[in-house]
Amino acid sequence: MKNSQDLINIARQMVQKGKGILAADESTPTCTKRFESIGVESTFDSRNQYRDMLFSATGIENYISGVILFDETLKQFTIANKDIPIPQYLQSLGIVPGIKVDTGAKVLAGFENEKITEGLDGLRNRLKEYYDLGARFAKWRAVITIGESIPSDACIYSNAHSLARYASLCQENGLVPIVEPEVLMDGTHTIETCYEVSKRTLHAVFEQLMMHQVLLEGIVLKPNMIISALGCLEQADVEKVSDMTFKCLKDSVPAEVGGIAFLSGGQSSDLATQHLNCMNNKYSEEMPWNLTFSYGRALQNDALNAWSGNNLNEGQKAFLERAKTNSLATYGKLNETVEVE
Ligand code: 13P
Repeated sequence: MKNSQDLINIARQMVQKGKGILAADESTPTCTKRFESIGVESTFDSRNQYRDMLFSATGIENYISGVILFDETLKQFTIANKDIPIPQYLQSLGIVPGIKVDTGAKVLAGFENEKITEGLDGLRNRLKEYYDLGARFAKWRAVITIGESIPSDACIYSNAHSLARYASLCQENGLVPIVEPEVLMDGTHTIETCYEVSKRTLHAVFEQLMMHQVLLEGIVLKPNMIISALGCLEQADVEKVSDMTFKCLKDSVPAEVGGIAFLSGGQSSDLATQHLNCMNNKYSEEMPWNLTFSYGRALQNDALNAWSGNNLNEGQKAFLERAKTNSLATYGKLNETVEVE
């Protein structure tokens, strides 16, 4: 392992109070899908312009501690100055650049409705290259699907094992691993089922992380919230989601973990913020870890629509608005007027 104190410091910086992580690491096919929704052609240049629009919004560093980049963006340059690589630009603002390193979730052989995330082959060398390009943290997303008789133990354990191998390789090479075991909200299951499956998953993940001697202070956990499935007839309210999410994390996540940054996972932007706010408002005294956001869609949806390919000012305004409200939610002060540094 490289210097463990460096890893701990980076993890702390990523989850510091008042700030969260922007997930802007959509793969090119996913980014293309998002651009199609606003009628914009997805090219090397348009993706560069869109991401630069987000990163150059004035004051982003007041709310955003880190940005997860896709390989292409890590190697691109700012629009204002073609000599400045994006990771160096982010560093100059005090924002930690990160990189998605998994190569996607594929069908798990023998389990046709379940997925295993790939990307371990050659990962050590890729991490060294990413470190040299300025990345100081990485992300790996595992996907757990709830359905008839699933998830299987095979799916949970193989994904937990891969997350642990990824995490130890990251720490060996000086990058803080974001460990993301996402229990999907697709389907019709209840919030109680989400709770049970998430708990089972988190226990397997921490068992594997510990078996692989991963330094827990030097990771950031990126979990789903405990929530009713999108197709469930009974939708749990904000209070219940917050209570059950907190309980699940308290029972499953060791206190040493560097911090927790939620994914938004298809929740509306408003709900993702309210849930985070409610948890920080009710439970901050009882929590051993800082609880923040690492949202993709919930931070970007408004900005993407407002930008629509060429409206820089409106795009940045919408993005900053979302970033600021989520920053307030990390203090549990969404409904109060407070000065955020
Ligand atoms: P969402 O917040 O849109 O779920 O994306 C977060 C992410 O990084 C998924 O891997």
